[in-house]
This record gives sequence, structure tokens and C-alpha cells, in this order.
Amino acid sequence: MIHMIQGIVVRESGVELEQFDESFLGEGDVVVDVAYSDLNYKDALAVTGRPGVVRTTPLIAGIDLVGTVAESDDPRWSVGDWIVLNGAGLSETRNGGYSTRARIDGKLAVALPDGLSPEAVASLGTAGYTAALSVMRIVMEGVNPGDGPVLVTGATGGVGSIATMLLAAAGFEVAASTGRLERFGDYLTSLGASQLVPRAELEGAGKPLQKAQYAAVVDSVGGEVLANAIARTLPNGTVTACGLAGSHKLPSSVMPFILRGVTLAGIDSVWAPLEDRADAWRLLAKGVDTTQLELMTSRIALDEVIAAGQQLLDGERHGRTLVTLS
Ligand SMILES: NC(=O)c1ccc[n+]([C@@H]2O[C@H](COP(=O)([O-])OP(=O)(O)OC[C@H]3O[C@@H](n4cnc5c(N)ncnc54)[C@H](OP(=O)(O)O)[C@@H]3O)[C@@H](O)[C@H]2O)c1
Repeated sequence: MIHMIQGIVVRESGVELEQFDESFLGEGDVVVDVAYSDLNYKDALAVTGRPGVVRTTPLIAGIDLVGTVAESDDPRWSVGDWIVLNGAGLSETRNGGYSTRARIDGKLAVALPDGLSPEAVASLGTAGYTAALSVMRIVMEGVNPGDGPVLVTGATGGVGSIATMLLAAAGFEVAASTGRLERFGDYLTSLGASQLVPRAELEGAGKPLQKAQYAAVVDSVGGEVLANAIARTLPNGTVTACGLAGSHKLPSSVMPFILRGVTLAGIDSVWAPLEDRADAWRLLAKGVDTTQLELMTSRIALDEVIAAGQQLLDGERHGRTLVTLS
């Protein structure tokens, strides 16, 4: 019997929800019945046909998947195991998670951490896992809760919301920066932010060294916001940069690095090694309030993903979006 699969396919001619058989899935040593995916900034770019994510067509979109193993040639995985795979080329060069079935390379897949349901893991998705990698890096660089507040930019977004939650759970004072303070100030406070910083304060060309006030920064915005955040980082502080929601540019200078010993740490979730992935998921299981996560997550079905992607790019969504496939 031919098993028909539904998925969101990006082609040169456009992006559509299509039906196809297993031969479309491509190479891989593990077949997964996908139960959930989610919507990240990169997914929004891919499903609205923007360039920069999908590098070969036709390709199934979706940078994350959570599901159960249906077939496996990888000794790490058995039929029925729940797994999560984030990045690792999904929706870039390999077929991704917006598909009821996927054939993946099992090497970078992670077992679901104790304490998080499959839905919670998918709700967190790449955004949550990247927030965890950022927080892990800040701690690894030696920043402690007593050193001063941590600035989170793009705080109402996926990475920003989860970073705020994880940092607060780890005892850090969080200064959350947002362009939507009036609408989402209470939301950010409920996630654990103790200071709210209007995005406008970090916009515009600023001096390379400003009043130092943040022990660390989690930035997903880039551009002048990142440059001004670096300029306000305390001596020996760490700034993690993972995103470009505002701009891919960095109009900064070497001054904060050579006069204040600031570290700029890049975060790449796509090809992070297996050990870091497992650590990040353990940190999420420890630091995320799942009731809070549910409150900040909206659910959509596969046939609603393309429209939701456009809304995300238009700044009409906040928090996380869970995509249910089964
Ligand atoms: N390096 C990696 O491995 C990795 C992994 C995950 C994500 N990322 C990147 O990180 C970024 C954020 O991802 P996400 O999933 O959190 O996206 P998201 O949910 O859309 O959040 C992005 C947030 O950035 C702020 N923002 C949006 N447009 C802006 C603009 N023009 N200028 C300044 N701020 C703006 C908004 O926050 P406020 O309204 O609160 O200001 C928005 O909520 C994206 O660039 C994504 O590609 C990278």
C-alpha cells in the first residue's frame, strides 16, 4: 500500500501544501512519524517564499520536528522512540518537519528530555533550544547572577521569550527590550523580566562605549540594537548573537572588546554538536515553566502555517506557535 504524506513544499514556482509518497522524502537512516513542528522566524521566511533559508528546491519546509521513530537503521533509535531534531539542515538542504512523515539522518536527533511532553518540546523548538544555547554560553563564559542584569533583545519573540524565562529561572535579573512595550510589557514581566527597555532606546547610531550596565546580552535582533547593546555591556561581560530579526549588519567598533574585555559569542543552533543539544534540552526541561509555555503558545494545523508565517513577518504574532501534524 502506498503511504501518502502531506507536507509544505517549497518550489521555484511557489510554496504549497502537497500530497506525495515516501519516494519524495529523500535520504536518511531514520523514518519519523512527525507529530509536531513549530513556527520560527526562519520557517516564516521559507513558507512565504523569501530567500535565505531554502537552498535547494523542491524541499519540504520546517526546521524542527518532533515525532516517533517508524523505521531505523541507526542503533541509537528504535521503533516507537520519541525524538526531536532541530536544524541540522532541515528546510535548508534536507526535507524538513512540515510533513506528516520524514526521513532524517538520526545522528543529531535527541531523545525528549525528562519532564517535557512532546508538545512542550515542539512548542519550544529551535527558538527555545537556541535560547538555551545562548544562556549556556553566557554561564560558560563565567557570568553569574550577581554580576548585573542580562539584556534580552527582541524579547517578545521566540528566542527572546524563552531566554527571558530561562535566565529568570537561573536567578539572573532580566532587562527585556521590546518594540511592543505597551502591548506586551505585562507578558514580559510574567516571564520573569524585572526591567523593561523600549527598543527605541537601543536604536540609532550610538557611541562605541556607553554607560556600562549589562553583565550579558542575549541578542536575536542584530544591527544598531546589537551594537548599542555591546556598547552598554559591563567589563568582561558576554554578548551572544544569534539572529538578525532587525538587521544582519553590526555597526560597532573594537572599543568594547579591547577596552572592556567584552566577549561577542556567536550562537549557531543548526550544526551544534549532539552533546550541546542534549545539554540545551536538559536546561529547558529544568528552567521552563510549562504552564507559562502553554499560555504563550498558540496552536495551528499544517494548512495554517503559510498564513501564520506571513503574520510572524508582519509582527502580528508573539511567543511561540505549535504546529500539529497528526
Ligand atoms: N543562530 C541560530 O542558530 C538561530 C536560531 C534561532 C533563531 N535565530 C534567529 O534569531 C532571530 C529571532 O528568531 P525568533 O524565532 O525568536 O523570531 P521571532 O519570534 O520573530 O522574534 C523576533 C523578535 O525580534 C524583534 N524584531 C522583529 N523585527 C524587528 C526589527 N525590524 N527591528 C528590531 N527588532 C525586531 C521582535 O521583538 P520585539 O517586538 O519584542 O522587539 C520580534 O518578536 C531570527 O533572525 C532568527 O533567524 C537564529
